[in-house]
Formats: sequence, structure tokens, C-alpha cells
Amino acid sequence: IHTVIHEDSNVASLFVANEIASLINEKQKLGKKTVIGLATGSTPTKVYEYLVKFHKEGKLSFKNVVTFNLDEYFPMEPSSIHSYVRFMNEHLFDHIDIEPDNIHIPDGTLKGEEVRQYCHDYEEKIQNVGGIDIQILGIGRTGHIGFNEPGSALNSKTRLIRLDRVTRLDAASDFFGEENVPRKAITMGVGTILSAKRIILMAWGEGKSPIIKEAVEGKIKESVPATFLQHHENCDFVLDDASASSLT
Ligand code: F6R
Repeated sequence: IHTVIHEDSNVASLFVANEIASLINEKQKLGKKTVIGLATGSTPTKVYEYLVKFHKEGKLSFKNVVTFNLDEYFPMEPSSIHSYVRFMNEHLFDHIDIEPDNIHIPDGTLKGEEVRQYCHDYEEKIQNVGGIDIQILGIGRTGHIGFNEPGSALNSKTRLIRLDRVTRLDAASDFFGEENVPRKAITMGVGTILSAKRIILMAWGEGKSPIIKEAVEGKIKESVPATFLQHHENCDFVLDDASASSLT
């Protein structure tokens, strides 16, 4: 893991947005599509703001971009204010020129027995477009990446998981109470994430500093899934001063 530390999340987000935009523009020149793995939550919102800004300034087109979101709550209606579909539309997709067919977000409306096949197909879709070129990640206080909670295996693939109590507590205020937070989610697996050609994990603020230290310097173990990123040879942790403050 290579750490990149910026003074604050704004500068750091601009750095990440520039990395994504350059990749899209380079591949576009070669007539190639860029496949991006996307995260939701508070961490990447400024990156999406910058990408929208670049697009509005005419510096960036998403015509040749294919996206796969990491996760979605389960069950979840796309129209819900809590859905990651809604989040992505509001923060990014409604403001750019991406082809709707190129957007993929796990479906929170499936019936229980449909989930397994759906997850298998999600993996296949990623492979059929040549794999993820750049995967954006946040990190949860449990050390989850996507919604791969403690106990997730190194080679895990897209699947339905049970959310950790800590994760549900962290989401409680958004849902106006812990009891309203869904108990499950569909998430890409650790193995899915590690198959990406490049990974950028972002973290902001003091609250993330203990888990950042674990992820970067700790022993690789299932109880802290983010430590599995140490296996990846092209993984950057883009941090602000506060989230990097516990690193030695
Ligand atoms: C969201 C996701 C999660 C978040 C993590 C951090 O798609 O996959 O792993 O990145 O829970 O959330 P925030 O950014 O809200 O602190």
C-alpha cells in the first residue's frame, strides 16, 4: 500500500478526481472504455463534485465509461432516499453524459432466491468488459471495504452479506434510527475488489485514523478486511492529515 497524504479532504479529492479523469481521457484517446468501480458514503462526494465540474467545463466525457458500484443495501427500493441508486444519481450520474446502460449498481429489490444468480452475473459483467481499471473505496470503522465486513474471505465474490452492528450504528442517523437500517447488503467481494487493476482508498478525519493504521500497518487478517489490500501491488491510500495521524 502506497500512502498519499494531503492537508485536507478537498485537496485530496481533487487529486483523486484528476487521477480518474486522466485515465478516462488517456483511454478515450486510444478508443477504449474505462471501467470504474464506485463507492458511496460521505468519503467520495467531493471527488464526484470535481468530476461533475470537469464535465461541465468540457474537459471530461463519460461516453466511454462503464461503472460498477460496490454495494447496495438489501432490501432497498431504488427510489428510496436511502438507496445508493439515488445517491449516485444525485452526486454524479444526473450531471454527466454517461450512458444509462453503462451504469451498474447491485439491485436491492431482488427476491431472496434470485440473489445468487444475480451476484454471479454481476461478476460476469465486470469480467466481460475487461475488469475494473480503477476501483474507488472508502473504509468503514470495522475495516470493511465495500460491505465486506470482518470475516469476509480474501477470495470472496459479489454476494449478500449481513451488516456489522458498528456499520449499522454508523448509518443510524441517516436512517433516523438503528432499527431502520437494513440488516443486509449486496456487496462486491474482497476478491472482486482485489481484481481491479488499480485501487484508490480514501479516508478523511480523525475518526478513521485507528482503522487506517490497522489497514496499512496491521497483520493481514479476515477480521480487518481492508488489510487484504496489502496484497495488491497498485493500491493507494489517499488520506488527509487527520486520518493519517496514527501512521508510524
Ligand atoms: C460504500 C461503501 C462503504 C463506505 C464506508 C465508509 O459504497 O462501500 O465501504 O465506503 O462505509 O463510509 P463513509 O464514506 O460514509 O465514511
